[in-house]
Amino acid sequence: MSAETIVIACDHGGIDMKALLKADLESAGYEILDLGTDSEDSVDYPDFAYALTSAINGGKASRGILICGTGIGISIAANRNPNIRAAVVHDALSARLCREHNDANVLCLGARLIGPEVARDCLDIFLKTAFGGGRHIQRVEKLSNLN
Ligand code: RB5
Repeated sequence: MSAETIVIACDHGGIDMKALLKADLESAGYEILDLGTDSEDSVDYPDFAYALTSAINGGKASRGILICGTGIGISIAANRNPNIRAAVVHDALSARLCREHNDANVLCLGARLIGPEVARDCLDIFLKTAFGGGRHIQRVEKLSNLN
């Protein structure tokens, strides 16, 4: 069985955290599609969010990770796409519930708000936790149906 591909991207606020999480994922056997950025030069987070959502919409990956200073701007950008359920997560509980209740397919982290070990914990839980289904199904379906 081939390894799952995870797509990852960040703005200049998230380069260290992206490198850390990418290395962890590679060690765990995932294929990584890294869309940058890779330097501290200032960039616009929507560009990286849209690159990642295009990769998911194009079938290159089914799950993604976005990182900016707060996780907020990059999640707002990603969530403009109706197929994307991007969740800003700060701790183990929010990481678990965004999967169980919201079937989040993009994890958003704020590199200026949480430390590397919390980010690792959030990622681990995000990847391992299944959608809860049941009463959450019709709610999640409505997220993609704006009419
Ligand atoms: C970049 O300075 C910063 O605005 C960005 O990383 C993010 O925090 C936006 O939501």
